Amino acid sequence: MLTLKKLTTEFQNSPVGIDEPSPRFSWILQASDKNTLQSEYRIRVSNGEETVWDSGTVKDSQSVLIPYAGAPLLARTTYTLRVTVADNHGERAEAEGSFETGLLDAENIKASWITYQTEPDALPVYRKQFSLDGKVKNARLYASALGVYGVTLNGGKAGDSCLAPGWTSYPHRIHYQVYDVTELLHKENELRITVGKGWYTGPFGFTNTPNNYGDTTAAIAQLEITFEDGRAQTLVTDGSWEYGTGSVKRGEIYDGETIDHTAAYSAIGTVKLFDHTVDILTAQKNEPVRVKQRIKPRKVFTTPKGEVVLDFGQNLVGVIEAELDCPRGTEVTLHHAEVLDKDGNFYTENLRAARAVDTFICGGGKELFHPEFTFHGFRYAQVEGLGEAFDINSFTACVMFSDMEEIGSFRCSHKKVNRLWDNIRWGQRGNFLDVPTDCPQRDERLGWTGDAQVFASTAATIMNTALFFEKWLIDLKSEQTAEHGVPHIIPNIMGNVEGAAAWSDAATIIPWQLYEAYGDVRVLQTQYESMKGWVEYIRGKAGMSCLWQSGFQYGDWLALDKEEFADRTGATDVYLVATAYYALSTELVAKTARVLGLEDDAKAYEALHWDIVRAFRREYITETGRMASETQTACVLALYFHLAADKHRERILQTLKTNIQKHNGHLVTGFVGTPYLCHLLSDSGLHDVAGEIFLKEDFPSWLNCVNLGATTIWERWDSMKADGSFDESGMNSFNHYAYGAIGSWMMQTLAGLKPLQPGYKEISVQPMPIKGITHVSASLETPYGLLSCAWRCENKQMTVEVTVPANTSAQIKLPEKDETISVGSGRYSYTYATTLELAKERYSRESTLGELLENPAAKPYLENIMPGMTDNDMIKLAYPMTVTQMSANMPPGADAVFDGLIAELNRLETEL
Ligand code: BGC
Repeated sequence: MLTLKKLTTEFQNSPVGIDEPSPRFSWILQASDKNTLQSEYRIRVSNGEETVWDSGTVKDSQSVLIPYAGAPLLARTTYTLRVTVADNHGERAEAEGSFETGLLDAENIKASWITYQTEPDALPVYRKQFSLDGKVKNARLYASALGVYGVTLNGGKAGDSCLAPGWTSYPHRIHYQVYDVTELLHKENELRITVGKGWYTGPFGFTNTPNNYGDTTAAIAQLEITFEDGRAQTLVTDGSWEYGTGSVKRGEIYDGETIDHTAAYSAIGTVKLFDHTVDILTAQKNEPVRVKQRIKPRKVFTTPKGEVVLDFGQNLVGVIEAELDCPRGTEVTLHHAEVLDKDGNFYTENLRAARAVDTFICGGGKELFHPEFTFHGFRYAQVEGLGEAFDINSFTACVMFSDMEEIGSFRCSHKKVNRLWDNIRWGQRGNFLDVPTDCPQRDERLGWTGDAQVFASTAATIMNTALFFEKWLIDLKSEQTAEHGVPHIIPNIMGNVEGAAAWSDAATIIPWQLYEAYGDVRVLQTQYESMKGWVEYIRGKAGMSCLWQSGFQYGDWLALDKEEFADRTGATDVYLVATAYYALSTELVAKTARVLGLEDDAKAYEALHWDIVRAFRREYITETGRMASETQTACVLALYFHLAADKHRERILQTLKTNIQKHNGHLVTGFVGTPYLCHLLSDSGLHDVAGEIFLKEDFPSWLNCVNLGATTIWERWDSMKADGSFDESGMNSFNHYAYGAIGSWMMQTLAGLKPLQPGYKEISVQPMPIKGITHVSASLETPYGLLSCAWRCENKQMTVEVTVPANTSAQIKLPEKDETISVGSGRYSYTYATTLELAKERYSRESTLGELLENPAAKPYLENIMPGMTDNDMIKLAYPMTVTQMSANMPPGADAVFDGLIAELNRLETEL
């Protein structure tokens, strides 16, 4: 049987309000037969009775992102979409969906921007009362703001987006949102729009500069109503609106919000029209930010300093909602923090100048407070003002992020690795809030291009990031200039700075990754000039030498190997990094030109790429294959970007291996080297080394952070140290996704799922086990449907189960097998004898004290040799420390004691 699921328009299920003149349609085939391929499709789009596009029967297997090619679409119109397909087994299936266009053209915007006459001392509320005569069939509200806004109609919230209109490059374009408000309308109506400063006028950027886009906030709205009897009525923001203030007294992204329920709406006067173009308004392209999860506090406790603190158990991003029942005038204050300091006190220094304080003033009786004009990054909240009335159940953390579809999952036999995957996922949730941000808590939260670039591939396997990044890349393109290249943050509020390697290369890398992950050719078309422009900018700097050796560079940002005076850029020559990325970007432009059929460009950039590669070799690799810079990252780039000659690869790999050994099997890489290190090792016959690096539990490593209690990815390998103290450089975020880039290796190598053709039309399934993990089970909702691989290696037996989606094919390469099996769609299961022994002894010197004590046998043993070892509060602080870390701080005999305990616990395990 064949069925179709998930018929989407522009990646969305029945979207309302799209401004895309030629939206793309996709669907997923679900088949009970194996080896199913689509043999033909037909798309029909109609407006009521009228068919506006009939593709006719197309004998093709394409089922992803087929562009509309009918008559020009009309604005504000709901179209019906019908897709019929047949497969190679003669089965047929059909699906129906719809999409609704937005305003499409600025000509259709009849509303004007409105603002206040004089700035009120609270957030301005714009208000309009109106009556309707007739039964409403359908009503749409189109709205936006210079600032961030919330709309209510007769007290009910329009839509469920948060922090609309989001953050775009405001001088170039501003998103508007479309809300179905049919159900909110009555005979007598009141429409209110509250506008906060948001990213527009609020202090923003690490200089805390206000008014980055202008000094005045404004609102715009157009309400279009159709009555049952066919009449239509439009209401727009214009000079007749009133403004005043309501309960929101203060609302800023960094500083937080004050909601005063003792203050009712109070009118001030008539609005002023604000002279600002409407031509830049465009329908929201990406998924809105929404509250996606609600979490209750795990516990409340009092810190040594006496602070009353809620612990939500997870570092997250959003706001705390409070349901209070207090006397009128009670003032409740919430402070937010990601971590406690080593003494267990509330710690906010790493927020720098961001106050992150919300205040709720009670009106009396049961009431709900929900900040709408701010967001915070926090796990803990300090509560002030409740005294005896404190009730933990009053508080709920509302987790907010861009509402992308979650597509990837990963689970394995190693608990800490599962936690790491969850941490990566939470890093994405916390930092994909309309723009990809470096961090969500301090006075930064900027769209750093470098961070986004290194994480993009992982992000694309956790959630569907197509629209999110397409939107952001449009801003990147509009803020890029021939003179300065691509800014370091998008949207750019830092003024003109010269482009920098690995950061500005987001311009080429991210479009290519979207193409690979989703088969999205349009993003390549849209971004091509930007991609090319970035390479041309570097060409201008590098000139005939083909070496980029000038200007400011971030290098291998935050690497642990440090050059004197350059502790943030790491020890790798920053210009080696720059030239390596010049080669990569040029290669991606050449490949893109091939995809787009631009043969001349393809040839020209292939030639340039080769020139850069040769220049790189001359400058950075000696004739005998010695690297001029022998850091881990330099070796990784030379090999992973295919810059080194084949004859030199082995020597450079050896250099890399030696470097890793010198660091006791650890990585010391920063933002640039980390994403590629394990990929390179696994691809180059050193998969075991990758596995060891990956499973290291002492500093520096991913699992060291897990051992120290991380619930997100940290900015630095040593954001928190073993004794609970912090890096205090003022740059220490506990929610920074960059090092989460290991997620793509987990999905592509450990689980073995990667695309061979863009969008997973052809798939490689090649799971590569490592010692220490005995089973992995991962899945990915690809554009063609569910792909999964689960392997288990136990008692010398390997089982691998694979699901290949319909309309694709896969090349399966099983562990320890030489042959590659070509399969079509379906489920496959393989069981065979293996020589692999992946199980590790459960306890080792990398086990933490907490883990040892999870085994009841450990307690008497430790008590015997170190009385008080298990019950003392101080000792609890040492729970996250590994045996290696603990014995380093103990008298010489401690080693032997711990070894004895480890051996005893492992013996007991086998007895069981
Ligand atoms: C950010 C980074 C960013 C870096 C570049 C930091 O402040 O948080 O992650 O890429 O600056 O300088």
